[in-house]
Amino acid sequence: MKFMKTMQNLLSDYTAELTSINEKLGRNSSEKNRAADHTSEVQQAIENLISSLPTIIIGLSRDNNIVLWNATAEQVLGAEADDVMGMHLSQCGLEWDWDKIADGILQSRYNNKPMRVDDVGFRGPEGDERFLGLTVNPLNGDGNSILGLTIIGADITDRKKMESQLQQSHKMEAIGQLAAGIAHEINTPVQFVGDNTRFFQEAFDDLNQVIKKLQAALAAARSNTLTDALFEETEQLIEEIDLEYLEEEIPLAIQHSLKGVERIAKIVQAMKIFAHPGMVAKEHVDINKEIEKTITITRNEWKYVADLETDFDESLPLVPCFRAEFNQVILNMIVNAAHAITEKNDENKSEKGTIHIRTAHEGDRAKICISDTGHGIPEDIRHKIFDLFFTTKEPGKGTGQGLAISHSVIVKKHHGTLTLESQEGKGTTFHIGLPLEVQTEEDD
Ligand SMILES: Nc1ncnc2c1ncn2[C@@H]1O[C@H](COP(=O)(O)OP(=O)(O)OP(=O)(O)O)[C@@H](O)[C@H]1O
Ligand SMILES: [Mg+2]
Repeated sequence: MKFMKTMQNLLSDYTAELTSINEKLGRNSSEKNRAADHTSEVQQAIENLISSLPTIIIGLSRDNNIVLWNATAEQVLGAEADDVMGMHLSQCGLEWDWDKIADGILQSRYNNKPMRVDDVGFRGPEGDERFLGLTVNPLNGDGNSILGLTIIGADITDRKKMESQLQQSHKMEAIGQLAAGIAHEINTPVQFVGDNTRFFQEAFDDLNQVIKKLQAALAAARSNTLTDALFEETEQLIEEIDLEYLEEEIPLAIQHSLKGVERIAKIVQAMKIFAHPGMVAKEHVDINKEIEKTITITRNEWKYVADLETDFDESLPLVPCFRAEFNQVILNMIVNAAHAITEKNDENKSEKGTIHIRTAHEGDRAKICISDTGHGIPEDIRHKIFDLFFTTKEPGKGTGQGLAISHSVIVKKHHGTLTLESQEGKGTTFHIGLPLEVQTEEDD
């Protein structure tokens, strides 16, 4: 914006100069030629100025035909001004994310305000994949009619790389901080999976002995040589290994082991969200469908303690979003809701709570509201719940990562909003707002 202001000041200086030249033109004809020379000098100066700016400047006519293509545009995009001048921007032969730019142009014309179009992928002059950060500015004529557009911007590939490295190192730091907690978290299930496996080994040895004895008894019976002694030995062995006990305990141990493995997988999954660089670009996602999937995956977490109701706005447009991260947020919200209801109903186990998930299209946002009839969040801890590692849950049940990750995903990665309402003893509602379109300058 500062750049545009400077440009405007310079242009208005030059315009003033041109006006005074025009006035002089009227005065006498000998001055006419000198003034004409001066006019072309001023024009040349403007062109040189625009050319020399280290910013991409592209001028478009009302019909999106290229009327200005400065030297930086030539250099960054690898296309000569002479080759593209007069062409429609969509047909200038560049390999770039035209849909994104077209969307920015449309929105800028429609809203008559500057629109930022970030992370526009394009193929650089060397054939490598690069990114542009652009701003589309409407040029107004009389009465606010739009004459044309300017697109200014820069190659942001290096900045993006640096940012992603920084973000990555923050994530690694967070993982470093989490390491002790995670080690403890993983250690408990690993221990009981280990204990159970040793138990299976012993049980298998015992059962194997019995099977061998039974096989011997069977062979003897078949050849009519089954003695009372062998019969008794077999019975005694069955008693010794306590077959009844094994019949009861083995399925339980299997169930526990599977739960332990699931727990480990869940922790590893949560870590991945932190460690993984994630998708470079957002996808357009049907969030109703995604939420439905997450509800299915989490069924086991809530089905014993709550009924889950949904109220989806079927007219909700596709939302630009990082699918995996978004799903992780919804998953955490549902699990938190189920936990809050379980804790509240601890005394009254027969009573089920309700989790309600609503989606809606509100202005330029998609809204998702997740309510529960749990114990609510006490006033004095509300400011802490988005802190990493803040948890009120017993070890093994919560690590305090869920809302910290959710906040980072919604607010930082999606430029969205995450707020909550809570009434102690009554329940909590989390409100998520996700922008449906490209951000404008003023939003930032
Ligand atoms: N729906 C809710 N109702 C009541 N309290 C909640 C709710 N959601 C979160 N909280 C409170 O916020 C704390 C932090 O939540 P967060 O999801 O970040 O971590 P966690 O659920 O404790 O652990 P994790 O999500 O890592 O397994 C919770 O421990 C709980 O005290
Ligand atoms: Mg949680």
